Amino acid sequence: MNREEARQRIGQLTYEINLHNYNYYDLSMPTITDYEFDRLLEELILLEKEFPEFADPASPSQRVGGGITKEFRQVRHTSPMLSLGNTYSEEEVRDFEVRIHKLLGQEIEYICELKFDGVAIGLTYRDGVLVQAVTRGDGVQGDDVTTNVRTIHSIPLRLQGDNYPSLLEIRGEIILPRKSFENINRKRLEEEEEPFANPRNAASGSLKMQDSKEVARRRLDCYLYYLPGNLPFSTHYECLMAAKKWGFNISKYMVKCRNIDEIFSFINTMNESRHELPFDIDGIVIKVNSLQQQKELGYTAKSPRWAIAYKFKAERVLTKLLSIAYQVGRTGAVTPVANLQPVLLAGTMVKRATLHNADIIASLDVRIGDIVYVEKGGEIIPKIIGVDLDQRLASAEPVIFASTCPECETPLLRSEGEAAHYCPNEAGCPPQIKGKLEHFISRKAMNIDSLGEGKIGILFDNKLVANIADLYDLRADQLLGLEKVYEATANKKEKKISFRDKTVENIMNGIERSKETGFERVLYAIGIRFVGETVAKKLAAHFGSIDSIMRATFEELKEAEEIGEKIAGSILEFFKEPKNQEIIRRLKEKGLHFEIREEEKKRKSDKLKGMTFVVSGTFEKFSRDEIKKEIEAHGGKNAGSISSKTTFVIAGENIGPEKRKKAASLAVPVISEAEFLRMIADELAS
Ligand code: IVH
Repeated sequence: MNREEARQRIGQLTYEINLHNYNYYDLSMPTITDYEFDRLLEELILLEKEFPEFADPASPSQRVGGGITKEFRQVRHTSPMLSLGNTYSEEEVRDFEVRIHKLLGQEIEYICELKFDGVAIGLTYRDGVLVQAVTRGDGVQGDDVTTNVRTIHSIPLRLQGDNYPSLLEIRGEIILPRKSFENINRKRLEEEEEPFANPRNAASGSLKMQDSKEVARRRLDCYLYYLPGNLPFSTHYECLMAAKKWGFNISKYMVKCRNIDEIFSFINTMNESRHELPFDIDGIVIKVNSLQQQKELGYTAKSPRWAIAYKFKAERVLTKLLSIAYQVGRTGAVTPVANLQPVLLAGTMVKRATLHNADIIASLDVRIGDIVYVEKGGEIIPKIIGVDLDQRLASAEPVIFASTCPECETPLLRSEGEAAHYCPNEAGCPPQIKGKLEHFISRKAMNIDSLGEGKIGILFDNKLVANIADLYDLRADQLLGLEKVYEATANKKEKKISFRDKTVENIMNGIERSKETGFERVLYAIGIRFVGETVAKKLAAHFGSIDSIMRATFEELKEAEEIGEKIAGSILEFFKEPKNQEIIRRLKEKGLHFEIREEEKKRKSDKLKGMTFVVSGTFEKFSRDEIKKEIEAHGGKNAGSISSKTTFVIAGENIGPEKRKKAASLAVPVISEAEFLRMIADELAS
């Protein structure tokens, strides 16, 4: 492809991808499959690499991330990013309105907006192209997070229309919608990582990640609410409407008000309906609409005089603590859960609240029968934050933390320095056994998707499995005909499961297929405490086999990347246990992979996973066979002839015209040796 062709193709791809993004994100009506979309994007990324002179900073390829920020550069704001005067008191909002009225002595129009609970951001556009995104920082200077911000779909990389100023600054808030927040936390819990406390923390953590590809997966969103520059408009509202035309996300929850009653009417409406919004807000911002009046009012050292934020009180209710139950997780950790007199809080009926651990119970001095304060402060699970001592009855009983497991009656343990109590009966405690089985079959572990929470429950109840090795002894005739009605934990709906021919066949096939799972996933699947996906990978790469891991001393374990004392200790503990040794022995016997396979050893990356190549012609740096080996080392496949399944043709010196024609007719991209090498190179872009 010559330069001119490349330029045209890049333009064409950019146009098409932008259109598909619009169909997907704005209209929710995609017209092509994800696979087809990925192919277009891949082609664009490749062309931009080959012809960097045509790579546009507003290219849709920026959305997928890839750029790594090693250290966030500090950038000074052109004008300070001020905060707002804020209050929880209605009285102070009235005072604000009276004060402004006096100062200006004329009719005033206000704009009331949502106060987004996220991370403030300043975006700069030069000639309509996003060139910089900076966090608030200390208000004077913040962090340059441009690479990460480019992955946020609702932030335009290039503005629409043509009447925007050549230098435009706009400010707003990056937020994490509640759905995305829940997904992220679910994943973190699965991997035994500490969940984020609320969407704001998660948004702020996400923006500061080094790998923008990871940021792209977080599904952040952004609302804009302030244009600090001199624009040819006379009101704040007109500024926002212009911004909307340029492609910015401007909230539709916004009203013009002429007096305090209208202001409170909006505040009250939003306070009631805020739980129906897909994201968190923590109040309402009231701004003087006229830019001329804003100028007259001016600023204090910290905030504008023309605006105020009214903050919603964290919703808190009083209810009675009826009893405390104890929940046992997969790892044996025991969590106290408060059973409450049902009460309406933040739009949902609350019956239970977490009490975390024995220390928290002690510090709250909460007693059974107490009237307690329950709050939902961004967190999904409500918590008890205090006791109304005035209402305490003499009969209120102090909480004595469970001394035995509620499920198996084994005495609980508490390790030195740890907050949680544990049930040590790993091999005999039902929720621990079921939890371990569920973890074992999960997607990122052995991926036996023909089994699930409910089916595992049936197998366990029928005493067919008591540990992960038992799965491989199951016979079809034992399963046929089993059935059960159970309540799914996900949505509390009743489900009936019955094991018919097809179900049993799928289960048996799934179990058989799982024997092919690579060592690193098997290592993750066996469920050693603190050995999540990443740690399992590092251990597998460092030690190569389970035997070497089992032989390793504490010190030797710590030599592996990312393995500290806590993990090393947990690994030793796991393998010391004869029951675990027995399980490993049985799994080995069944043929599971307990060492890295030859092809995995040679595996350098997964960059070419899912791609099929046809290599043709002679090459400059490598022989044809070497190129084929590289393809496999990066997870790709080789094929002998071009077909519609071919992802790329790698063309050498003297590739025949027939091959080129065939590729063109099937729209298979033809790439050079240099392009291929760039595809597999270790990149640390921007
Ligand atoms: S206006 C000069 N409008 O609240 C005034 N701020 O405590 C610029 N915020 O730092 C801010 N929603 O991060 C404005 N609709 C909104 C807002 C908003 C949230 C944040 C912003 C600011 C903080 C003030």
